Amino acid sequence: MQINRRNFLRIAGATGIGAMLPNISKSAEFFFDKDQHSPKALKNIYRQAYKKHPQKFNMCGYAAPKLDTVRIAIVGLGSRGGGAVQRLSYIDGVKIVAICDELESQAIKAKSRIKTPEHPAVIYAGKEDSWKEMCRREDIDLVYVTTPWELHAPIGVYAMKQGKHVALEIPAAKTIEECWELVQTSEKTKKHCVILENCCYDFFELLTLNLARNGFFGEIIHTEGAYIHTIGKSLFFRGKPGRSWRLKENMERNGNLYPTHGLGPVGQIMNLNRGNQMDYMVSMSSNDFMMNEFAKELSKEEDYFKQFIDAPYRGNMNSSIIRTVKGQTILIQHDVTTPRPYSRLHTISGTKATAQKYPLIPRIAIGEGEWLDEKEMKELEEKYNPPLIKKMQDIAKEIGGHGGMDFLMDWRLIDCLRNGLPVDMDVYDAAAWSVIGPLSEWSVANRSAPIDIPDFTNGSWKKNIPHDISLQHGGNTRVREDIEK
Ligand SMILES: NC(=O)c1ccc[n+]([C@@H]2O[C@H](COP(=O)([O-])OP(=O)(O)OC[C@H]3O[C@@H](n4cnc5c(N)ncnc54)[C@H](O)[C@@H]3O)[C@@H](O)[C@H]2O)c1
Repeated sequence: MQINRRNFLRIAGATGIGAMLPNISKSAEFFFDKDQHSPKALKNIYRQAYKKHPQKFNMCGYAAPKLDTVRIAIVGLGSRGGGAVQRLSYIDGVKIVAICDELESQAIKAKSRIKTPEHPAVIYAGKEDSWKEMCRREDIDLVYVTTPWELHAPIGVYAMKQGKHVALEIPAAKTIEECWELVQTSEKTKKHCVILENCCYDFFELLTLNLARNGFFGEIIHTEGAYIHTIGKSLFFRGKPGRSWRLKENMERNGNLYPTHGLGPVGQIMNLNRGNQMDYMVSMSSNDFMMNEFAKELSKEEDYFKQFIDAPYRGNMNSSIIRTVKGQTILIQHDVTTPRPYSRLHTISGTKATAQKYPLIPRIAIGEGEWLDEKEMKELEEKYNPPLIKKMQDIAKEIGGHGGMDFLMDWRLIDCLRNGLPVDMDVYDAAAWSVIGPLSEWSVANRSAPIDIPDFTNGSWKKNIPHDISLQHGGNTRVREDIEK
Protein backbone atom coordinates (compact mmCIF):
# COMPACT_ATOMS: atom_id res chain seq x y z
CA MET A 1 0.00 0.00 0.00
CA GLN A 2 1.24 3.47 -0.81
CA ILE A 3 1.56 5.57 2.31
CA ASN A 4 0.16 9.04 1.85
CA ARG A 5 -0.94 11.55 4.46
CA ARG A 6 -4.49 10.33 4.47
CA ASN A 7 -4.08 6.61 4.71
CA PHE A 8 -1.20 7.08 7.14
CA LEU A 9 -3.67 8.43 9.62
CA ARG A 10 -6.00 5.53 8.84
CA ILE A 11 -3.25 3.05 9.67
CA ALA A 12 -2.27 5.05 12.70
CA GLY A 13 -5.87 4.92 13.94
CA ALA A 14 -6.13 1.22 13.32
CA THR A 15 -2.94 0.33 15.08
CA GLY A 16 -2.94 2.81 17.91
CA ILE A 17 0.10 4.70 16.56
CA GLY A 18 -2.10 7.82 16.43
CA ALA A 19 -2.17 8.02 20.19
CA MET A 20 1.62 8.08 20.30
CA LEU A 21 1.82 11.04 17.93
CA PRO A 22 0.10 13.91 19.74
CA ASN A 23 1.46 16.59 17.42
CA ILE A 24 0.34 14.71 14.30
CA SER A 25 -2.03 17.54 13.50
CA LYS A 26 -3.81 20.30 15.35
CA SER A 27 -6.94 19.73 13.37
CA ALA A 28 -8.53 16.98 11.38
CA GLU A 29 -7.28 18.72 8.25
CA PHE A 30 -4.76 15.94 8.12
CA PHE A 31 -7.54 13.45 7.81
CA PHE A 32 -10.01 14.94 5.40
CA ASP A 33 -9.62 16.20 1.86
CA LYS A 34 -10.11 19.98 2.00
CA ASP A 35 -10.52 20.20 -1.77
CA GLN A 36 -13.94 18.56 -1.53
CA HIS A 37 -15.29 21.78 0.02
CA SER A 38 -13.60 24.12 -2.45
CA PRO A 39 -15.59 26.44 -4.73
CA LYS A 40 -13.92 24.64 -7.65
CA ALA A 41 -15.29 21.26 -6.54
CA LEU A 42 -18.77 22.73 -6.06
CA LYS A 43 -18.68 24.45 -9.47
CA ASN A 44 -17.76 21.12 -10.99
CA ILE A 45 -20.87 19.51 -9.46
CA TYR A 46 -23.00 22.18 -11.13
CA ARG A 47 -21.26 21.77 -14.47
CA GLN A 48 -21.62 17.99 -14.37
CA ALA A 49 -25.33 18.22 -13.47
CA TYR A 50 -26.05 19.89 -16.83
CA LYS A 51 -23.70 17.83 -19.02
CA LYS A 52 -25.44 15.61 -21.59
CA HIS A 53 -24.34 12.07 -22.47
CA PRO A 54 -25.97 10.03 -25.24
CA GLN A 55 -27.42 6.60 -24.48
CA LYS A 56 -25.52 3.71 -26.11
CA PHE A 57 -27.99 0.97 -25.20
CA ASN A 58 -31.01 0.87 -22.91
CA MET A 59 -30.21 -1.35 -19.89
CA CYS A 60 -33.69 -0.88 -18.38
CA GLY A 61 -35.54 -4.15 -18.89
CA TYR A 62 -32.41 -5.79 -20.30
CA ALA A 63 -32.24 -9.54 -19.75
CA ALA A 64 -28.70 -10.95 -19.70
CA PRO A 65 -28.14 -14.60 -20.69
CA LYS A 66 -29.22 -17.11 -18.01
CA LEU A 67 -26.61 -18.35 -15.56
CA ASP A 68 -27.24 -21.76 -14.11
CA THR A 69 -24.72 -21.16 -11.33
CA VAL A 70 -23.87 -17.60 -10.35
CA ARG A 71 -20.14 -17.51 -9.58
CA ILE A 72 -19.58 -14.66 -7.15
CA ALA A 73 -16.65 -12.61 -5.88
CA ILE A 74 -17.16 -10.33 -2.88
CA VAL A 75 -15.00 -7.27 -2.06
CA GLY A 76 -14.88 -5.45 1.30
CA LEU A 77 -15.39 -7.93 4.11
CA GLY A 78 -16.27 -5.71 7.06
CA SER A 79 -19.57 -5.88 8.90
CA ARG A 80 -21.71 -5.68 5.75
CA GLY A 81 -19.50 -7.87 3.55
CA GLY A 82 -19.21 -10.63 6.15
CA GLY A 83 -23.01 -10.77 6.38
CA ALA A 84 -23.32 -10.90 2.59
CA VAL A 85 -20.90 -13.84 2.38
CA GLN A 86 -23.01 -15.74 4.87
CA ARG A 87 -26.38 -14.90 3.27
CA LEU A 88 -25.27 -15.67 -0.27
CA SER A 89 -23.92 -19.06 0.81
CA TYR A 90 -27.48 -20.11 1.71
CA ILE A 91 -28.75 -19.68 -1.86
CA ASP A 92 -28.84 -22.59 -4.26
CA GLY A 93 -27.01 -21.98 -7.55
CA VAL A 94 -24.45 -19.68 -5.92
CA LYS A 95 -20.76 -20.44 -5.81
CA ILE A 96 -18.54 -18.05 -3.88
CA VAL A 97 -15.41 -18.26 -5.98
CA ALA A 98 -13.31 -15.52 -4.41
CA ILE A 99 -13.38 -12.95 -1.62
CA CYS A 100 -11.23 -9.86 -1.13
CA ASP A 101 -10.31 -7.41 1.58
CA GLU A 102 -7.33 -5.16 1.89
CA LEU A 103 -6.82 -6.80 5.27
CA GLU A 104 -6.33 -10.55 5.18
CA SER A 105 -7.68 -10.97 8.72
CA GLN A 106 -11.05 -9.61 7.56
CA ALA A 107 -11.14 -12.06 4.66
CA ILE A 108 -10.32 -15.02 6.89
CA LYS A 109 -13.08 -14.00 9.30
CA ALA A 110 -15.60 -13.67 6.45
CA LYS A 111 -14.63 -17.01 4.96
CA SER A 112 -15.49 -18.71 8.23
CA ARG A 113 -19.07 -17.45 7.83
CA ILE A 114 -19.73 -19.60 4.76
CA LYS A 115 -22.43 -22.04 5.76
CA THR A 116 -22.54 -24.55 2.91
CA PRO A 117 -19.87 -26.67 1.15
CA GLU A 118 -18.30 -26.20 -2.29
CA HIS A 119 -17.35 -22.54 -2.12
CA PRO A 120 -13.62 -22.18 -2.89
CA ALA A 121 -13.66 -18.53 -1.67
CA VAL A 122 -10.05 -17.94 -2.69
CA ILE A 123 -8.71 -15.00 -0.68
CA TYR A 124 -7.29 -11.87 -2.31
CA ALA A 125 -5.75 -9.49 0.22
CA GLY A 126 -2.75 -7.44 1.22
CA LYS A 127 -2.91 -4.60 -1.30
CA GLU A 128 -5.22 -1.62 -1.76
CA ASP A 129 -6.02 -2.94 -5.22
CA SER A 130 -6.01 -6.71 -4.66
CA TRP A 131 -9.58 -6.58 -6.00
CA LYS A 132 -8.25 -5.89 -9.51
CA GLU A 133 -6.50 -9.23 -9.68
CA MET A 134 -9.63 -10.92 -8.41
CA CYS A 135 -11.86 -9.15 -10.97
CA ARG A 136 -9.61 -10.38 -13.75
CA ARG A 137 -10.41 -14.04 -13.01
CA GLU A 138 -12.39 -15.60 -15.81
CA ASP A 139 -14.58 -17.78 -13.62
CA ILE A 140 -16.60 -14.97 -12.03
CA ASP A 141 -20.10 -13.81 -13.10
CA LEU A 142 -20.89 -11.27 -10.39
CA VAL A 143 -18.71 -8.96 -8.31
CA TYR A 144 -20.52 -7.95 -5.10
CA VAL A 145 -19.06 -4.77 -3.58
CA THR A 146 -19.36 -3.96 0.14
CA THR A 147 -16.40 -1.60 0.60
CA PRO A 148 -16.32 2.02 1.82
CA TRP A 149 -18.17 4.39 -0.53
CA GLU A 150 -15.24 5.75 -2.49
CA LEU A 151 -14.52 2.30 -3.94
CA HIS A 152 -18.03 1.36 -5.10
CA ALA A 153 -17.92 3.00 -8.52
CA PRO A 154 -14.22 2.38 -9.29
CA ILE A 155 -14.59 -1.35 -8.56
CA GLY A 156 -17.94 -1.48 -10.35
CA VAL A 157 -16.56 0.08 -13.53
CA TYR A 158 -13.42 -2.06 -13.49
CA ALA A 159 -15.38 -5.28 -12.94
CA MET A 160 -17.90 -4.53 -15.72
CA LYS A 161 -14.99 -3.87 -18.06
CA GLN A 162 -13.72 -7.33 -17.10
CA GLY A 163 -17.07 -8.77 -18.24
CA LYS A 164 -18.73 -9.16 -14.83
CA HIS A 165 -22.14 -8.10 -13.56
CA VAL A 166 -21.79 -5.95 -10.48
CA ALA A 167 -23.84 -5.35 -7.34
CA LEU A 168 -22.85 -2.23 -5.42
CA GLU A 169 -23.59 -1.28 -1.84
CA ILE A 170 -25.19 2.10 -1.24
CA PRO A 171 -24.60 4.75 -2.46
CA ALA A 172 -23.40 3.28 -5.76
CA ALA A 173 -21.40 6.44 -6.51
CA LYS A 174 -20.20 9.58 -4.76
CA THR A 175 -19.94 11.98 -7.71
CA ILE A 176 -21.95 12.79 -10.84
CA GLU A 177 -19.00 11.72 -13.01
CA GLU A 178 -19.01 8.32 -11.29
CA CYS A 179 -22.77 7.98 -11.85
CA TRP A 180 -22.32 8.56 -15.58
CA GLU A 181 -19.33 6.24 -15.71
CA LEU A 182 -21.41 3.44 -14.22
CA VAL A 183 -24.23 4.12 -16.72
CA GLN A 184 -21.95 4.29 -19.74
CA THR A 185 -19.96 1.21 -18.76
CA SER A 186 -23.08 -0.85 -18.10
CA GLU A 187 -24.55 0.22 -21.47
CA LYS A 188 -21.30 -0.51 -23.31
CA THR A 189 -20.57 -3.88 -21.71
CA LYS A 190 -24.24 -4.96 -21.32
CA LYS A 191 -23.44 -5.98 -17.78
CA HIS A 192 -25.90 -5.34 -14.99
CA CYS A 193 -24.95 -2.73 -12.42
CA VAL A 194 -27.31 -3.33 -9.50
CA ILE A 195 -27.59 -1.09 -6.47
CA LEU A 196 -27.94 -3.14 -3.28
CA GLU A 197 -30.78 -1.05 -1.83
CA ASN A 198 -32.12 -3.56 0.65
CA CYS A 199 -34.87 -1.25 1.94
CA CYS A 200 -36.73 -1.81 -1.35
CA TYR A 201 -37.25 -5.38 -0.08
CA ASP A 202 -38.58 -4.58 3.37
CA PHE A 203 -42.05 -5.99 3.91
CA PHE A 204 -44.09 -2.81 4.37
CA GLU A 205 -42.22 -1.14 1.49
CA LEU A 206 -43.14 -4.06 -0.81
CA LEU A 207 -46.75 -3.99 0.39
CA THR A 208 -47.03 -0.26 -0.35
CA LEU A 209 -45.37 -0.78 -3.75
CA ASN A 210 -48.01 -3.32 -4.69
CA LEU A 211 -50.77 -1.09 -3.30
CA ALA A 212 -49.47 1.76 -5.46
CA ARG A 213 -49.38 -0.50 -8.52
CA ASN A 214 -53.03 -1.34 -7.82
CA GLY A 215 -54.02 2.33 -7.63
CA PHE A 216 -54.81 2.14 -3.90
CA PHE A 217 -53.29 5.57 -3.16
CA GLY A 218 -54.90 7.18 -6.22
CA GLU A 219 -52.49 9.69 -7.78
CA ILE A 220 -49.39 9.97 -5.64
CA ILE A 221 -48.79 13.59 -4.66
CA HIS A 222 -45.95 13.43 -2.13
CA THR A 223 -43.64 10.85 -0.59
CA GLU A 224 -41.02 10.95 2.15
CA GLY A 225 -38.00 8.77 2.86
CA ALA A 226 -35.03 9.05 5.17
CA TYR A 227 -32.04 7.57 6.86
CA ILE A 228 -32.37 8.74 10.44
CA HIS A 229 -30.18 6.45 12.49
CA THR A 230 -28.17 7.46 15.52
CA ILE A 231 -24.73 6.11 14.73
CA GLY A 232 -23.46 8.90 17.00
CA LYS A 233 -20.06 8.53 18.65
CA SER A 234 -19.36 5.26 16.90
CA LEU A 235 -18.68 7.35 13.78
CA PHE A 236 -15.37 7.98 15.53
CA PHE A 237 -14.61 4.24 15.60
CA ARG A 238 -11.03 3.59 16.38
CA GLY A 239 -9.04 0.46 16.73
CA LYS A 240 -11.28 -1.33 14.21
CA PRO A 241 -9.58 -1.80 10.87
CA GLY A 242 -10.59 0.63 8.18
CA ARG A 243 -13.54 2.02 10.11
CA SER A 244 -12.71 5.73 10.12
CA TRP A 245 -13.87 6.17 6.51
CA ARG A 246 -17.38 7.11 7.69
CA LEU A 247 -16.02 9.91 9.86
CA LYS A 248 -13.99 11.22 6.95
CA GLU A 249 -17.10 11.28 4.74
CA ASN A 250 -18.93 13.30 7.38
CA MET A 251 -16.17 15.93 7.35
CA GLU A 252 -15.58 16.19 3.65
CA ARG A 253 -19.11 16.62 2.41
CA ASN A 254 -22.14 18.57 3.63
CA GLY A 255 -25.43 17.26 2.29
CA ASN A 256 -27.38 14.02 2.15
CA LEU A 257 -24.61 11.43 2.01
CA TYR A 258 -26.90 8.42 2.20
CA PRO A 259 -30.06 9.16 0.22
CA THR A 260 -30.94 5.74 -1.19
CA HIS A 261 -32.51 4.01 1.85
CA GLY A 262 -35.22 6.66 1.72
CA LEU A 263 -35.38 7.34 -2.00
CA GLY A 264 -35.15 3.76 -3.34
CA PRO A 265 -38.50 2.48 -2.02
CA VAL A 266 -40.50 5.65 -2.76
CA GLY A 267 -38.71 6.00 -6.10
CA GLN A 268 -40.02 2.59 -7.13
CA ILE A 269 -43.51 3.53 -5.91
CA MET A 270 -43.37 6.68 -8.07
CA ASN A 271 -41.98 4.76 -11.09
CA LEU A 272 -38.86 6.92 -11.35
CA ASN A 273 -36.88 6.08 -14.52
CA ARG A 274 -39.92 4.08 -15.68
CA GLY A 275 -42.68 6.46 -16.76
CA ASN A 276 -41.71 9.23 -14.33
CA GLN A 277 -38.55 11.17 -13.66
CA MET A 278 -36.98 13.48 -11.09
CA ASP A 279 -36.74 17.04 -12.39
CA TYR A 280 -34.93 19.26 -9.87
CA MET A 281 -34.18 19.53 -6.16
CA VAL A 282 -33.28 21.85 -3.31
CA SER A 283 -31.41 20.93 -0.15
CA MET A 284 -30.78 22.47 3.27
CA SER A 285 -28.56 21.34 6.15
CA SER A 286 -28.65 22.38 9.80
CA ASN A 287 -25.39 23.26 11.51
CA ASP A 288 -23.43 20.64 13.40
CA PHE A 289 -24.62 20.54 16.99
CA MET A 290 -23.43 17.00 17.75
CA MET A 291 -20.20 15.85 16.14
CA ASN A 292 -17.84 18.50 17.44
CA GLU A 293 -19.28 17.89 20.91
CA PHE A 294 -18.53 14.15 20.50
CA ALA A 295 -14.95 15.00 19.51
CA LYS A 296 -14.58 17.22 22.59
CA GLU A 297 -16.04 14.57 24.90
CA LEU A 298 -13.92 11.76 23.47
CA SER A 299 -10.75 13.83 23.64
CA LYS A 300 -11.19 14.18 27.41
CA GLU A 301 -10.53 10.45 27.58
CA GLU A 302 -7.91 10.18 24.85
CA ASP A 303 -5.63 12.73 23.18
CA TYR A 304 -6.05 10.99 19.83
CA PHE A 305 -9.48 12.61 19.39
CA LYS A 306 -8.17 16.18 19.80
CA GLN A 307 -7.34 16.30 16.12
CA PHE A 308 -11.08 16.08 15.36
CA ILE A 309 -12.07 19.15 17.38
CA ASP A 310 -13.36 21.94 15.13
CA ALA A 311 -13.31 19.83 11.99
CA PRO A 312 -15.79 21.03 9.33
CA TYR A 313 -18.51 18.54 10.22
CA ARG A 314 -21.55 18.00 8.04
CA GLY A 315 -24.76 19.59 9.34
CA ASN A 316 -26.54 17.01 11.47
CA MET A 317 -29.89 17.10 9.67
CA ASN A 318 -30.15 17.40 5.91
CA SER A 319 -33.53 17.82 4.22
CA SER A 320 -33.71 17.63 0.43
CA ILE A 321 -36.89 18.18 -1.58
CA ILE A 322 -37.19 16.77 -5.09
CA ARG A 323 -39.83 17.69 -7.67
CA THR A 324 -40.75 15.15 -10.34
CA VAL A 325 -41.69 15.96 -13.94
CA LYS A 326 -45.27 15.04 -12.98
CA GLY A 327 -45.31 17.78 -10.34
CA GLN A 328 -45.06 15.51 -7.28
CA THR A 329 -42.69 16.15 -4.38
CA ILE A 330 -40.32 13.87 -2.44
CA LEU A 331 -38.73 14.75 0.91
CA ILE A 332 -35.49 12.90 1.70
CA GLN A 333 -33.78 13.37 5.08
CA HIS A 334 -30.44 12.28 6.50
CA ASP A 335 -29.35 12.38 10.12
CA VAL A 336 -26.89 9.99 11.79
CA THR A 337 -26.10 11.84 15.01
CA THR A 338 -29.19 13.32 16.70
CA PRO A 339 -30.46 11.13 19.55
CA ARG A 340 -33.83 9.95 18.25
CA PRO A 341 -35.56 6.70 17.26
CA TYR A 342 -34.63 5.10 13.95
CA SER A 343 -36.77 6.23 11.00
CA ARG A 344 -36.87 5.92 7.23
CA LEU A 345 -40.17 7.85 7.18
CA HIS A 346 -41.56 5.92 4.20
CA THR A 347 -44.60 8.15 3.82
CA ILE A 348 -46.87 8.00 0.80
CA SER A 349 -49.55 10.61 0.32
CA GLY A 350 -51.98 10.14 -2.53
CA THR A 351 -55.34 11.48 -3.67
CA LYS A 352 -57.14 8.53 -2.04
CA ALA A 353 -55.00 7.06 0.73
CA THR A 354 -51.85 7.47 2.77
CA ALA A 355 -49.23 5.23 4.35
CA GLN A 356 -46.59 5.94 6.98
CA LYS A 357 -44.09 3.42 8.27
CA TYR A 358 -42.27 5.40 10.96
CA PRO A 359 -41.82 6.56 13.68
CA LEU A 360 -44.46 4.30 15.23
CA ILE A 361 -45.83 1.09 13.73
CA PRO A 362 -46.59 1.03 9.98
CA ARG A 363 -49.97 2.59 9.27
CA ILE A 364 -52.32 3.01 6.33
CA ALA A 365 -55.37 5.28 6.14
CA ILE A 366 -58.04 5.61 3.48
CA GLY A 367 -59.41 9.10 2.98
CA GLU A 368 -59.58 11.48 5.91
CA GLY A 369 -60.58 8.90 8.50
CA GLU A 370 -58.66 6.97 11.11
CA TRP A 371 -55.70 4.72 10.52
CA LEU A 372 -56.81 1.19 9.64
CA ASP A 373 -56.98 -1.13 12.66
CA GLU A 374 -54.98 -4.33 13.08
CA LYS A 375 -57.64 -6.54 11.48
CA GLU A 376 -58.04 -4.26 8.46
CA MET A 377 -54.25 -4.08 8.06
CA LYS A 378 -54.05 -7.89 8.10
CA GLU A 379 -56.75 -8.11 5.41
CA LEU A 380 -54.86 -5.60 3.28
CA GLU A 381 -51.62 -7.58 3.67
CA GLU A 382 -53.35 -10.82 2.71
CA LYS A 383 -54.78 -9.23 -0.40
CA TYR A 384 -51.88 -7.04 -1.50
CA ASN A 385 -48.64 -8.58 -0.22
CA PRO A 386 -46.74 -9.24 -3.47
CA PRO A 387 -45.81 -12.86 -4.37
CA LEU A 388 -42.18 -12.29 -3.32
CA ILE A 389 -43.31 -11.78 0.28
CA LYS A 390 -45.85 -14.60 0.17
CA LYS A 391 -43.28 -17.05 -1.16
CA MET A 392 -40.14 -16.02 0.70
CA GLN A 393 -41.01 -14.17 3.91
CA ASP A 394 -40.73 -17.09 6.34
CA ILE A 395 -37.31 -18.23 5.15
CA ALA A 396 -36.12 -14.61 4.76
CA LYS A 397 -37.07 -13.88 8.38
CA GLU A 398 -35.30 -17.05 9.49
CA ILE A 399 -32.08 -16.24 7.65
CA GLY A 400 -32.39 -12.56 8.47
CA GLY A 401 -30.32 -9.52 7.62
CA HIS A 402 -32.24 -6.44 8.83
CA GLY A 403 -35.24 -8.64 9.61
CA GLY A 404 -35.09 -10.54 6.32
CA MET A 405 -34.98 -7.79 3.70
CA ASP A 406 -31.27 -8.36 3.00
CA PHE A 407 -31.90 -12.00 2.19
CA LEU A 408 -34.95 -11.17 0.03
CA MET A 409 -32.78 -8.76 -1.97
CA ASP A 410 -29.97 -11.28 -2.46
CA TRP A 411 -32.31 -14.12 -3.33
CA ARG A 412 -34.20 -12.01 -5.89
CA LEU A 413 -30.95 -10.83 -7.52
CA ILE A 414 -29.63 -14.38 -7.85
CA ASP A 415 -33.01 -15.63 -9.11
CA CYS A 416 -33.07 -12.91 -11.81
CA LEU A 417 -29.54 -13.79 -12.95
CA ARG A 418 -30.25 -17.52 -12.98
CA ASN A 419 -33.44 -17.07 -14.97
CA GLY A 420 -32.14 -14.41 -17.34
CA LEU A 421 -34.61 -11.80 -16.07
CA PRO A 422 -34.14 -8.03 -15.96
CA VAL A 423 -32.93 -6.89 -12.55
CA ASP A 424 -35.24 -4.89 -10.24
CA MET A 425 -32.77 -2.07 -9.59
CA ASP A 426 -30.68 -1.29 -12.66
CA VAL A 427 -27.84 1.10 -13.38
CA TYR A 428 -30.23 4.05 -13.95
CA ASP A 429 -31.67 3.52 -10.46
CA ALA A 430 -28.15 3.20 -9.04
CA ALA A 431 -27.16 6.53 -10.64
CA ALA A 432 -30.39 8.48 -10.03
CA TRP A 433 -30.77 7.48 -6.38
CA SER A 434 -27.07 8.06 -5.62
CA VAL A 435 -26.70 11.40 -7.44
CA ILE A 436 -28.83 13.11 -4.78
CA GLY A 437 -25.64 13.05 -2.63
CA PRO A 438 -23.46 15.39 -4.72
CA LEU A 439 -26.43 17.52 -5.88
CA SER A 440 -27.45 18.12 -2.26
CA GLU A 441 -23.88 19.24 -1.48
CA TRP A 442 -24.10 21.89 -4.19
CA SER A 443 -27.52 23.13 -3.09
CA VAL A 444 -26.52 23.28 0.60
CA ALA A 445 -23.42 25.28 -0.30
CA ASN A 446 -25.55 27.67 -2.39
CA ARG A 447 -28.23 28.69 0.13
CA SER A 448 -30.49 25.83 -0.97
CA ALA A 449 -30.65 26.98 -4.60
CA PRO A 450 -32.35 24.56 -7.02
CA ILE A 451 -30.32 22.24 -9.21
CA ASP A 452 -31.51 19.95 -12.02
CA ILE A 453 -31.30 16.18 -11.57
CA PRO A 454 -29.59 14.52 -14.56
CA ASP A 455 -31.69 12.11 -16.60
CA PHE A 456 -29.43 9.07 -16.73
CA THR A 457 -31.92 7.29 -19.02
CA ASN A 458 -31.60 10.02 -21.68
CA GLY A 459 -35.34 10.19 -22.20
CA SER A 460 -35.89 6.41 -22.20
CA TRP A 461 -37.83 6.82 -18.93
CA LYS A 462 -40.83 7.80 -21.09
CA LYS A 463 -41.02 4.27 -22.50
CA ASN A 464 -39.40 2.14 -19.78
CA ILE A 465 -41.86 -0.01 -17.88
CA PRO A 466 -41.90 -0.62 -14.10
CA HIS A 467 -40.02 -3.69 -12.87
CA ASP A 468 -41.99 -6.90 -12.53
CA ILE A 469 -43.16 -7.81 -9.02
CA SER A 470 -45.49 -10.65 -10.06
CA LEU A 471 -42.87 -13.43 -9.77
CA GLN A 472 -44.60 -15.06 -12.75
CA HIS A 473 -41.17 -15.70 -14.22
CA GLY A 474 -38.36 -17.26 -12.25
CA GLY A 475 -38.96 -17.86 -8.57
CA ASN A 476 -37.40 -21.31 -8.86
CA THR A 477 -34.15 -20.65 -6.96
CA ARG A 478 -34.09 -22.70 -3.80
CA VAL A 479 -32.56 -22.11 -0.43
CA ARG A 480 -29.93 -24.73 0.39
CA GLU A 481 -30.76 -27.45 2.87
CA ASP A 482 -27.19 -28.54 3.61
CA ILE A 483 -26.62 -25.58 5.92
CA GLU A 484 -24.07 -25.98 8.67
CA LYS A 485 -25.79 -24.61 11.82
N1 LIG B 1 -27.54 -1.59 2.95
C1 LIG B 1 -27.34 -1.56 4.25
O1 LIG B 1 -28.24 -1.76 5.06
C2 LIG B 1 -25.95 -1.30 4.74
C3 LIG B 1 -25.63 -1.45 6.09
C4 LIG B 1 -24.31 -1.22 6.49
C5 LIG B 1 -23.37 -0.83 5.56
N2 LIG B 1 -23.73 -0.67 4.25
C6 LIG B 1 -22.75 -0.30 3.24
O2 LIG B 1 -21.79 -1.34 3.14
C7 LIG B 1 -20.51 -0.79 2.88
C8 LIG B 1 -19.52 -1.28 3.92
O3 LIG B 1 -19.94 -0.84 5.19
P1 LIG B 1 -19.42 -1.56 6.52
O4 LIG B 1 -20.21 -1.00 7.64
O5 LIG B 1 -19.38 -3.02 6.32
O6 LIG B 1 -17.94 -0.99 6.59
P2 LIG B 1 -16.67 -1.68 7.28
O7 LIG B 1 -15.71 -0.58 7.52
O8 LIG B 1 -17.11 -2.55 8.42
O9 LIG B 1 -16.11 -2.65 6.12
C9 LIG B 1 -15.44 -2.19 4.99
C10 LIG B 1 -14.42 -3.24 4.62
O10 LIG B 1 -13.82 -2.84 3.38
C11 LIG B 1 -12.44 -3.13 3.49
N3 LIG B 1 -11.68 -2.31 2.54
C12 LIG B 1 -11.32 -1.02 2.64
N4 LIG B 1 -10.56 -0.66 1.59
C13 LIG B 1 -10.45 -1.76 0.80
C14 LIG B 1 -9.78 -2.04 -0.42
N5 LIG B 1 -9.05 -1.11 -1.05
N6 LIG B 1 -9.86 -3.29 -0.94
C15 LIG B 1 -10.58 -4.26 -0.31
N7 LIG B 1 -11.21 -4.05 0.86
C16 LIG B 1 -11.16 -2.81 1.41
C17 LIG B 1 -12.08 -2.82 4.94
O11 LIG B 1 -10.87 -3.45 5.33
C18 LIG B 1 -13.29 -3.38 5.65
O12 LIG B 1 -13.13 -4.75 5.99
C19 LIG B 1 -20.70 0.71 2.84
O13 LIG B 1 -20.89 1.10 1.53
C20 LIG B 1 -21.97 0.95 3.60
O14 LIG B 1 -22.65 2.09 3.20
C21 LIG B 1 -25.00 -0.91 3.83
